[in-house]
Amino acid sequence: MKINKAEIIISAVSEAQYPKDKLPEIVLLGRSNVGKSSLINTLINCQHLARTSSRPGKTQTMNFYQINDQFRFVDMPGYGYAKVSRKEQEKWGQMIENYLLNRDNLKMTFLLVDSRHEPTEDDQLMYNWLKYYHLSTQVILTKFDKLSSSQKKQSIKKLIGTLSIEPDHILPFSSVTKEGVETCWQIIEDSISHE
Ligand code: GTP
Ligand code: MG
Repeated sequence: MKINKAEIIISAVSEAQYPKDKLPEIVLLGRSNVGKSSLINTLINCQHLARTSSRPGKTQTMNFYQINDQFRFVDMPGYGYAKVSRKEQEKWGQMIENYLLNRDNLKMTFLLVDSRHEPTEDDQLMYNWLKYYHLSTQVILTKFDKLSSSQKKQSIKKLIGTLSIEPDHILPFSSVTKEGVETCWQIIEDSISHE
């Protein structure tokens, strides 16, 4: 997709602030620091649209990024960030759950998992939850550039084992080498064109 326009529409903290039109949305989920905001920047080839940080907990609101007035990425706060209070985590958990279950605009869920580590308990819970509710989910294995070729194979194997997922439902991705970018766009275009 050729990007002509990419802009943040709203950093929402409540449902009342969500955009009210019918544009399709792709949501990004995953633990804090996994590379959600970086993936958006990499896909649209603009390093400064979504704020990223080497310290976890950077994204603290639901950020709606509109692309070509055609669709939106919804960048979520990451889970598993210890410094956020329990109350705050519960509030976010409820908001994300509510968004996932009730948002008609939602077309596709990207669940990002860090390729350097085994999927966490939170990753497994999230994946099973998405499956249970039959939400279209693509698992993206991030930071793939950080692995050697044997580690790459190992990390895909681990993911298949822990999530009981089909190998072709896993997309290795790197914001550094751009591996996975084209396939990711294919998935986005397919999901936003099916009404
Ligand atoms: P929160 O907003 O805290 O939930 O984090 P996030 O999931 O949005 O992560 P973010 O995109 O801010 O990236 C976290 C860190 O990982 C940053 O320092 C990025 O530069 C780095 N990073 C993200 N993707 C990649 C990648 O593909 N390769 C490498 N080497 N580093 C990456
Ligand atoms: Mg972020």
